[in-house]
Amino acid sequence: MAEIAGAEPTRRDFLYIATGAVGAVGAAALAWPFINQMNPDASTLALSSVEVDLSQVAEGQSITIKWRGKPVFIRHRTGKEIDEAKAVEISQLVDPLARNGNLPADAPATDANRAAEGKEAWLVMIGICTHLGCVPLGGSGDYDGWFCPCHGSHYDSAGRIRRGPAPENMHIPTYQFLSDTSIRIG
Ligand code: FES
Repeated sequence: MAEIAGAEPTRRDFLYIATGAVGAVGAAALAWPFINQMNPDASTLALSSVEVDLSQVAEGQSITIKWRGKPVFIRHRTGKEIDEAKAVEISQLVDPLARNGNLPADAPATDANRAAEGKEAWLVMIGICTHLGCVPLGGSGDYDGWFCPCHGSHYDSAGRIRRGPAPENMHIPTYQFLSDTSIRIG
Protein backbone atom coordinates (compact mmCIF):
# COMPACT_ATOMS: atom_id res chain seq x y z
CA MET A 1 0.00 0.00 0.00
CA ALA A 2 1.80 3.13 -1.24
CA GLU A 3 1.64 6.24 0.92
CA ILE A 4 1.65 9.73 -0.59
CA ALA A 5 4.11 11.99 1.18
CA GLY A 6 2.30 14.66 3.15
CA ALA A 7 -1.08 12.94 2.92
CA GLU A 8 -3.42 12.98 5.90
CA PRO A 9 -3.05 9.86 8.03
CA THR A 10 -5.72 7.35 7.19
CA ARG A 11 -7.95 5.76 9.79
CA ARG A 12 -5.83 2.67 9.46
CA ASP A 13 -2.69 4.70 10.28
CA PHE A 14 -4.41 6.20 13.28
CA LEU A 15 -5.40 2.82 14.62
CA TYR A 16 -1.86 1.63 14.19
CA ILE A 17 -0.48 4.65 16.06
CA ALA A 18 -3.02 4.25 18.84
CA THR A 19 -2.15 0.59 19.25
CA GLY A 20 1.51 1.48 19.40
CA ALA A 21 0.83 4.03 22.12
CA VAL A 22 -1.05 1.50 24.23
CA GLY A 23 1.80 -0.93 23.77
CA ALA A 24 4.29 1.68 24.92
CA VAL A 25 2.28 2.46 28.06
CA GLY A 26 2.04 -1.22 28.86
CA ALA A 27 5.77 -1.64 28.45
CA ALA A 28 6.45 1.33 30.69
CA ALA A 29 4.20 -0.05 33.43
CA LEU A 30 5.92 -3.39 33.23
CA ALA A 31 9.35 -1.82 33.28
CA TRP A 32 8.82 0.18 36.46
CA PRO A 33 9.36 -2.60 38.99
CA PHE A 34 12.63 -3.36 37.32
CA ILE A 35 13.65 0.26 37.13
CA ASN A 36 12.93 0.58 40.83
CA GLN A 37 15.22 -2.32 41.42
CA MET A 38 17.84 -0.42 39.50
CA ASN A 39 17.96 2.32 42.12
CA PRO A 40 19.67 0.35 44.84
CA ASP A 41 20.49 1.71 48.25
CA ALA A 42 24.08 1.80 49.43
CA SER A 43 24.14 -1.80 50.64
CA THR A 44 22.90 -3.31 47.39
CA LEU A 45 25.18 -1.02 45.44
CA ALA A 46 28.11 -2.53 47.29
CA LEU A 47 26.93 -6.02 46.37
CA SER A 48 26.38 -4.96 42.77
CA SER A 49 23.63 -7.51 42.39
CA VAL A 50 20.04 -7.13 41.32
CA GLU A 51 17.01 -9.33 41.94
CA VAL A 52 14.52 -9.65 39.10
CA ASP A 53 10.93 -10.85 39.29
CA LEU A 54 10.19 -13.04 36.26
CA SER A 55 6.57 -13.82 37.10
CA GLN A 56 5.19 -11.33 34.54
CA VAL A 57 7.42 -12.47 31.68
CA ALA A 58 5.34 -14.89 29.63
CA GLU A 59 6.74 -17.46 27.24
CA GLY A 60 7.91 -15.69 24.10
CA GLN A 61 8.54 -12.40 25.93
CA SER A 62 11.78 -10.68 26.88
CA ILE A 63 12.73 -7.94 29.27
CA THR A 64 15.89 -5.89 29.51
CA ILE A 65 17.23 -4.75 32.83
CA LYS A 66 20.32 -2.76 33.68
CA TRP A 67 23.05 -4.35 35.76
CA ARG A 68 26.36 -2.69 36.52
CA GLY A 69 25.56 -0.20 33.78
CA LYS A 70 24.98 -2.86 31.14
CA PRO A 71 21.78 -4.13 29.52
CA VAL A 72 20.91 -7.69 30.47
CA PHE A 73 18.45 -9.53 28.24
CA ILE A 74 16.19 -12.00 29.99
CA ARG A 75 14.17 -14.10 27.58
CA HIS A 76 11.49 -16.64 28.34
CA ARG A 77 12.13 -18.89 25.37
CA THR A 78 9.55 -20.83 23.45
CA GLY A 79 9.81 -24.59 22.95
CA LYS A 80 10.65 -23.97 19.29
CA GLU A 81 13.55 -21.69 20.20
CA ILE A 82 14.93 -24.23 22.65
CA ASP A 83 14.61 -27.08 20.14
CA GLU A 84 16.37 -25.02 17.46
CA ALA A 85 19.23 -24.17 19.80
CA LYS A 86 19.63 -27.78 20.97
CA ALA A 87 19.78 -29.04 17.38
CA VAL A 88 22.97 -27.06 16.65
CA GLU A 89 26.27 -28.94 16.76
CA ILE A 90 29.24 -27.26 18.43
CA SER A 91 31.11 -27.64 15.12
CA GLN A 92 28.58 -25.30 13.51
CA LEU A 93 29.35 -22.49 15.92
CA VAL A 94 31.65 -19.54 15.34
CA ASP A 95 32.50 -19.47 19.05
CA PRO A 96 32.52 -22.92 20.67
CA LEU A 97 32.69 -21.59 24.25
CA ALA A 98 29.68 -21.07 26.50
CA ARG A 99 30.90 -17.68 27.81
CA ASN A 100 28.83 -18.40 30.88
CA GLY A 101 30.08 -16.78 34.09
CA ASN A 102 28.53 -19.61 36.08
CA LEU A 103 30.63 -22.30 34.38
CA PRO A 104 34.33 -22.99 33.80
CA ALA A 105 35.90 -20.84 31.08
CA ASP A 106 36.33 -23.85 28.77
CA ALA A 107 32.71 -25.06 28.98
CA PRO A 108 31.35 -25.74 25.48
CA ALA A 109 28.55 -23.62 24.03
CA THR A 110 25.82 -26.25 24.17
CA ASP A 111 22.33 -24.95 24.70
CA ALA A 112 22.33 -26.52 28.17
CA ASN A 113 25.43 -24.53 29.07
CA ARG A 114 23.86 -21.29 27.90
CA ALA A 115 20.66 -21.63 29.94
CA ALA A 116 20.32 -22.26 33.67
CA GLU A 117 20.39 -25.87 34.82
CA GLY A 118 16.84 -27.21 34.95
CA LYS A 119 15.49 -23.87 33.69
CA GLU A 120 16.15 -24.18 30.01
CA ALA A 121 13.33 -21.82 29.08
CA TRP A 122 15.27 -18.89 30.53
CA LEU A 123 18.13 -17.20 28.78
CA VAL A 124 19.93 -14.48 30.74
CA MET A 125 22.75 -12.67 28.98
CA ILE A 126 24.51 -9.36 28.70
CA GLY A 127 22.92 -7.63 25.74
CA ILE A 128 26.07 -6.27 24.19
CA CYS A 129 27.33 -7.33 20.78
CA THR A 130 30.80 -8.81 21.11
CA HIS A 131 31.96 -7.03 17.96
CA LEU A 132 32.06 -3.36 18.92
CA GLY A 133 29.52 -3.15 21.70
CA CYS A 134 26.16 -2.24 20.14
CA VAL A 135 22.95 -3.52 21.70
CA PRO A 136 21.44 -6.20 19.41
CA LEU A 137 17.75 -6.30 18.56
CA GLY A 138 15.64 -9.18 19.81
CA GLY A 139 13.26 -11.20 17.67
CA SER A 140 15.33 -10.63 14.55
CA GLY A 141 18.16 -11.98 12.50
CA ASP A 142 18.39 -15.20 10.53
CA TYR A 143 18.63 -17.55 13.53
CA ASP A 144 15.49 -16.77 15.52
CA GLY A 145 17.46 -14.78 18.06
CA TRP A 146 19.10 -11.36 17.95
CA PHE A 147 20.49 -9.17 15.23
CA CYS A 148 23.05 -6.41 15.60
CA PRO A 149 22.42 -3.91 12.83
CA CYS A 150 25.69 -2.04 13.38
CA HIS A 151 27.70 -4.41 11.20
CA GLY A 152 25.33 -7.34 10.70
CA SER A 153 25.93 -9.93 13.41
CA HIS A 154 23.31 -12.66 13.78
CA TYR A 155 22.88 -14.48 17.12
CA ASP A 156 20.76 -17.58 17.59
CA SER A 157 18.07 -18.40 20.15
CA ALA A 158 20.78 -19.23 22.69
CA GLY A 159 22.57 -15.92 22.06
CA ARG A 160 25.42 -17.59 20.18
CA ILE A 161 27.06 -15.76 17.29
CA ARG A 162 26.25 -17.51 14.03
CA ARG A 163 27.13 -15.04 11.29
CA GLY A 164 28.75 -11.62 10.98
CA PRO A 165 31.83 -9.99 12.49
CA ALA A 166 31.18 -10.59 16.21
CA PRO A 167 33.82 -13.03 17.53
CA GLU A 168 32.09 -14.35 20.66
CA ASN A 169 28.71 -15.47 21.92
CA MET A 170 26.92 -12.90 24.03
CA HIS A 171 28.22 -13.24 27.56
CA ILE A 172 26.19 -14.71 30.40
CA PRO A 173 26.52 -13.00 33.78
CA THR A 174 26.74 -14.82 37.10
CA TYR A 175 23.20 -15.35 38.33
CA GLN A 176 21.08 -17.81 40.25
CA PHE A 177 17.43 -18.64 40.60
CA LEU A 178 16.07 -17.67 44.02
CA SER A 179 12.71 -19.31 43.25
CA ASP A 180 10.89 -20.47 40.11
CA THR A 181 10.09 -16.85 39.29
CA SER A 182 12.98 -14.78 40.53
CA ILE A 183 16.68 -14.53 39.90
CA ARG A 184 19.59 -12.64 41.37
CA ILE A 185 22.14 -11.35 38.90
CA GLY A 186 25.64 -10.69 40.23
S1 FES B 1 28.80 -3.95 17.03
FE1 FES B 1 27.46 -5.59 16.54
S2 FES B 1 28.00 -6.13 14.53
FE2 FES B 1 29.39 -4.54 15.01
